Amino acid sequence: MTEPSLLRSQAVDGPLLEVDDLHVQFAGRGRLFGTSPPPVRAVNGVSFSIAPERTFGLVGESGSGKSTIARAILQLVDIASGTIRLGGDDVTQVQRKDELKFRKNVQAVLQDPFSSLNQVHQTRTIVGDGITRHYGLKPGANRDERIGRLLDAVGLSREFIDRYPYEMSGGQRQRISIARALAVEPRLIIADEATSALDVSIQSQVINVLRQIQDDSGVSFLFIAHDLEVVKHVSHDLGVMYLGYLVEKGDANAIYDAPTHPYTEMLIASIPMPDPVVQAGRRELRQSFDNDAEPPSPANLPPGCPFENRCPVAMDICREVMPDPTPAHHGGDVRCHLHTSGPELAGESVVEFIKTKAESRMAGSQRSQDKSLTS
Ligand SMILES: Nc1ncnc2c1ncn2[C@@H]1O[C@H](COP(=O)(O)OP(=O)(O)OP(=O)(O)O)[C@@H](O)[C@H]1O
Ligand code: SF4
Ligand SMILES: [Mg+2]
Repeated sequence: MTEPSLLRSQAVDGPLLEVDDLHVQFAGRGRLFGTSPPPVRAVNGVSFSIAPERTFGLVGESGSGKSTIARAILQLVDIASGTIRLGGDDVTQVQRKDELKFRKNVQAVLQDPFSSLNQVHQTRTIVGDGITRHYGLKPGANRDERIGRLLDAVGLSREFIDRYPYEMSGGQRQRISIARALAVEPRLIIADEATSALDVSIQSQVINVLRQIQDDSGVSFLFIAHDLEVVKHVSHDLGVMYLGYLVEKGDANAIYDAPTHPYTEMLIASIPMPDPVVQAGRRELRQSFDNDAEPPSPANLPPGCPFENRCPVAMDICREVMPDPTPAHHGGDVRCHLHTSGPELAGESVVEFIKTKAESRMAGSQRSQDKSLTS
């Protein structure tokens, strides 16, 4: 049997990361009449892959399972079933002796650098520790030179080597977090809401840093955020999560221009637009969704599509059967009956279909209002 490589130095031919049919559950809280509560189904049958030098963006509302996927890849939660492969090796089977290799290749940058950076250390230690651990380079001039180059890469002056986290702004701390992740030359960086807490202008500076780093080093990113516009801006490929399901995935620009899942369309319709005419059209479209309906609990998911109670084009089958992924025009897939048992959109955009439905519904309600006024 060959030893798992976990990528230490070899090139990767196929995908860098492959997540296949991943399920993650958490024990439910509380007891009801002496019975165990049902588990929280945080991630349900999620599959996607990330090629070298690519960015896969994950978007979805709070509680949709984005961070749980990240934590499963980082081996911080147990998975119920499925596989996660890095360069072909099953990361859920990593032996203790290979853990250091794994940690070197997969790094994380999280939302709150203030709590993830050790306040009592200067940048020299925060960024340098990984270099010592993974490359055996002791503190000193050579290590400082390497840290200096990392500070150049994240757009900070070399004076930051002597600074403590409390002496920096939020954007500067986030750049230090990125430098710390880069220090060990990982193949994959998981950025979970890494720019969400930053002001818009700082956010775009940090995103530019991430892009430049990808161009220079070829690292791949799993970029997670609530904000579809930000995610689309940085990602080659996009995955849309709803209640633990990946409901749509494929080429980021193609999905943004012509989404195939009603939930993706709802997210796009929620993005404010400077053009008042476009904005009015989007508002109308947004109003066709039931924005006030409570999503089901992940501890009590319905048998059918979990988006059914908010979806303006739901059908009977949607209440009963959860749709399987089916191929879509953007090269990925979509989980929605409109593409299989419904009007057979067959993987094409859902936008015109929803608009037409919304318009005929509005015309219908206008007719009944007119009727009641005249009777
Ligand atoms: N340790 C845990 N124990 C029990 N339930 C958990 C645990 N961690 C997450 N969950 C539940 O799993 C579901 C998915 O949570 P997760 O944090 O992955 O969502 P998210 O998409 O990252 O949300 P956010 O955008 O708010 O960060 C939620 O219902 C959450 O309450
Ligand atoms: S499966 Fe049905 S309810 Fe779910 S998004 Fe598609 S049309 Fe709407
Ligand atoms: Mg999260």
